[in-house]
Amino acid sequence: MTNGWVLLFVSISTLFSFVIHVADAAEDALVAQAAKKNLIISIGTDSFSSLSKDKSINKSGVLLLDEGQRLQGSVLSKINESSVNQLSAYQHDKYHRCGGFVVHDSIQDAKDFMARSLVTPSLDQKNSFFLDYDINQEELVNPLLKEVSEINILTTIQKLSSYFDRYYTSATGVESANWIYQQLKSLSKSRSDISVELFKHESWAQPSVIATIKGETNEKIIIGGHLDSINQRGGFFGRKSAAPGADDNASGIATWMEAFRVLSKNGYRPKHTIQFMGYAAEEVGLRGSNAIAKQYKAKGEKVLGALQFDMTNFKNHEKDIFLISDYTNQEQNKFLGNLIDTYIKLPWGFTKCGYACSDHASWNGQGYVVSYPFETAFETYNKKIHTTADTLSVSQNSANHATKFARLAVAYVLELDN
Ligand code: BES
Ligand code: ZN
Repeated sequence: MTNGWVLLFVSISTLFSFVIHVADAAEDALVAQAAKKNLIISIGTDSFSSLSKDKSINKSGVLLLDEGQRLQGSVLSKINESSVNQLSAYQHDKYHRCGGFVVHDSIQDAKDFMARSLVTPSLDQKNSFFLDYDINQEELVNPLLKEVSEINILTTIQKLSSYFDRYYTSATGVESANWIYQQLKSLSKSRSDISVELFKHESWAQPSVIATIKGETNEKIIIGGHLDSINQRGGFFGRKSAAPGADDNASGIATWMEAFRVLSKNGYRPKHTIQFMGYAAEEVGLRGSNAIAKQYKAKGEKVLGALQFDMTNFKNHEKDIFLISDYTNQEQNKFLGNLIDTYIKLPWGFTKCGYACSDHASWNGQGYVVSYPFETAFETYNKKIHTTADTLSVSQNSANHATKFARLAVAYVLELDN
C-alpha cells in the first residue's frame, strides 16, 4: 500500500515536471524566434531541396524563408537566427554528414561569395610564387620544430574542452575566448613587438581573438582556427547539452597557440606581419571569420597566405595529413605538400569537404590565398563532433596527431616569411 502511494506520487510529479518542461521549452523557442532576426544564407542546392521537401523540418523549427538565386551549386535563402542550430543538426541526423550553409551580411555579399565558390581558384588567386618557391630555411626551421611540445597542446585542449560550451552567445563562450586572449598575452609578455586584441562583433557576445607579431612590412601571414563549439543535439527538451569540442575545434586552437608560443619564445623577428586568429561563431555560418576577412578586404590589407586549422587531433587514416582541395588555393596547397615532405616527412593526401565547411571559405570568398590541412580524409571524419562525446578520450587522451600540424604551422611561417 505504502509503495503504491509512493509510486503514484512519483508518477504524478514526474508528469507534472514533464509538462512544465515542455511548456518552458516551447515558450523559450517562441521568445527566441520572435526576438531574433532573419539571416541571409547560402546553402548547398541538394540540402536546400531536401529541406524544402521535408515536412518534419518545420516541426523542429527550421524555416527556410524563400528561395533566391542559384549559383555554383548553392541557393540564396533566408533563415530565422533561432533555427540555425537545428539546420545543421538536421543535416547530421538525416544525412549523417555536415551540411554547409554560410551566413552573409547582405544579398550582394552572398552573391559575391557564391560566385567565388568554385572548386578551382579564380584567376586572380593564381599565384606562381608558391610553385617556384624553394624551401631553404632548414637551419632555422629544424631546431624550432624540436621545440613543439605535445604536452602544451594537450593542456590547452583539456582547458578549452572543460568549458560547458564555447557557443557564440553563451557566457562560457565569452569566458573561453577571454581565456585564449589572456593566454596569448602571457605567452608574449616579454615582447613589445607582439600585441593581442579582442575583435568584437556587434551581433553576438563572443569576440574573436587576434595576436600580431609585427614585421618589417604590413603584408600579413595569417594562421587561424575557430574558437567556438556547438552541440547540435540541443539536449533534453531543447535544454542545451555540453559542447566540449575537443577535436572541433579546441585542437586547432591549441595547434596554432603552440606554434605561436614557439615563435614568440625563440625571439623570431619576422619580415612580414604574422597574425594568429581565433574566430568566433564559425559553427553558425562562418560569421566571425567572415567579418574579419571582409574588413581586411575593405581596408585593402595584403595577405601573402593564410592557413586554417580546424580539427587536427583525430587520426583515422593511414595517411597523416590531408589538404582540403576546395575553397583553397591550389598553388599554396602544393607548397604545403612540399613543406610536409621536407619537414614533417609523413604520408599526406588531398581531400574535399564539398561545401564551405570552415573559415578558410571566408578568406577564399574575399579572394585571399588560403589552405586547410585536416586530420583525416573527409570520408573518415570524426563523427563525435558537435556532441557531448567530442572529448579528448576519442584521441586516447593524447595530442600526438596535433603536434604534426603545429610543426607544419611553424615551418609554413618561417619558409613563407623568407
Ligand atoms: N570542423 C567543422 C568542419 C568539418 C567537419 C570539416 C567535418 C571536415 C569534416 C566545422 O566546425 C563545421 O562544423 N562546419 C559546419 C559548416 C559551417 C558553415 C556551419 C559543418 O560542417 O556542418
Ligand atoms: Zn564544427
